[in-house]
Amino acid sequence: MDFQRNIVITGGAGFIGSHVVRLFVNKYPDYHIINLDKLTYTGNLTNLKDIENKPNYTFVKADICDFEMMLKIFKQYHVDGVIHLAAESHVDRSIRDPFTFARTNVLGTLSLLQAARLTWEYLPEGYEDKRFYHISTDEVYGALGLTYPEGKLSDISAHEVYGDEFFKETTKYNPHSPYSASKASSDHFVRAFHDTYGVPTIVTHCSNNYGPYQFPDKLIPLFIGNIRHRKPLPVYGKGENVHDWLYVVDHTRAIDVIFHNGKVADTYNIGGFNEWKNIDIIHVIIKTVDRLLGNPEGYSEELITYVMDHVGYGLRYVIDSTKLKNELGWKPSLQVEEGIEKTVQWYLDNQEWMENVTSGAYESYYEGIYKSK
Ligand code: NAD
Ligand code: DAU
Repeated sequence: MDFQRNIVITGGAGFIGSHVVRLFVNKYPDYHIINLDKLTYTGNLTNLKDIENKPNYTFVKADICDFEMMLKIFKQYHVDGVIHLAAESHVDRSIRDPFTFARTNVLGTLSLLQAARLTWEYLPEGYEDKRFYHISTDEVYGALGLTYPEGKLSDISAHEVYGDEFFKETTKYNPHSPYSASKASSDHFVRAFHDTYGVPTIVTHCSNNYGPYQFPDKLIPLFIGNIRHRKPLPVYGKGENVHDWLYVVDHTRAIDVIFHNGKVADTYNIGGFNEWKNIDIIHVIIKTVDRLLGNPEGYSEELITYVMDHVGYGLRYVIDSTKLKNELGWKPSLQVEEGIEKTVQWYLDNQEWMENVTSGAYESYYEGIYKSK
């Protein structure tokens, strides 16, 4: 079957990637969606059971660092678009193992870029109608409010403490953790491939996502699981770091809009205008889980356990996505309370998924699928 477009989505078995794959496979039956994923600990094909048999969907197990394999895939599938999400994504892990982050996030991105360039630049039509869309993070900008004086936060609002400063597309890079340093480096390679070779690239920086299928080493799914199992909730520092939270489906909608209508060589910030101190969002999670489990209000507050903050975390990460709203008409649809309600409900309804990922059982599921291809 001839498709209108052949799009590789890297990291499509992960949290955000699986939402992007699902949206594109369902919304664009004329596109061939090739999910290219190495299936690391966060890659889970059971996330995509509902679409795995669709005629416009193909899964390829591959490592983006394997340049020869990337070239082969680009040629074999006549790839004309890339949405690049594959990455090592967890800040805490990057502090323990920075090499893996440099390998996947930097060298992997370079290998994909080079494969795209060497495939596209020799075609008769060259780069026409091609697109390399790289998904980056707000953490490359560093953190705002690092000079905040100790001990004042508990009784005043985040705005009073940190002011109204936001990350804009023009904010200078200032990464702090090995994760954000690796993402910053990959962003520079993406832009360099546009400036040097003319590859039609786009980069977006998104804030903290949450929602179904997020691996429970991240705050929100970890805490939902721990509350359910009456385990401690490890709050870093005093829980005073501030993040801008975005429901994953809103990010996915933004990716769709930007992939189709974003300007080549441009950068867009994606955020929820939903900034929350960690401790405040943790209270919302506790309240919601307790209510949905039928526990009395405040029942699980005692699980909060303050632990040492990690070096490399900053105080406040907040995105200004006005440009995306003004130029492409995207805006977030959910506020945090509503998004948390949907997310908690999903994790409580999908306990089998949670148990599979924490036990590693999902790995045998995808081995079965992969062997049968
Ligand atoms: P995730 O860890 O859930 O998914 C990453 C996916 O990439 C997994 O399926 C994994 O198997 C795959 N992968 C890892 N190494 C690979 C390799 N070498 N080759 C091929 N596939 C590989 O991550 P996520 O939270 O879905 O994040 C996706 C992207 O979005 C990342 O680039 C991340 O930096 C970016 N991002 C995430 C957030 C967030 O809040 N989660 C916010 C902004 C940007
Ligand atoms: O800002 C975007 C980034 O958001 C993405 O680029 C990353 O890929 C994504 O993982 C996420 O990074 P964070 O480190 O912010 O996410 P996490 O959910 O791990 O942590 C959110 C905040 O909660 C952070 O300030 C650290 C804190 N935290 C986290 C965990 C796991 C805790 O207090 N306790 C915890 O156990």
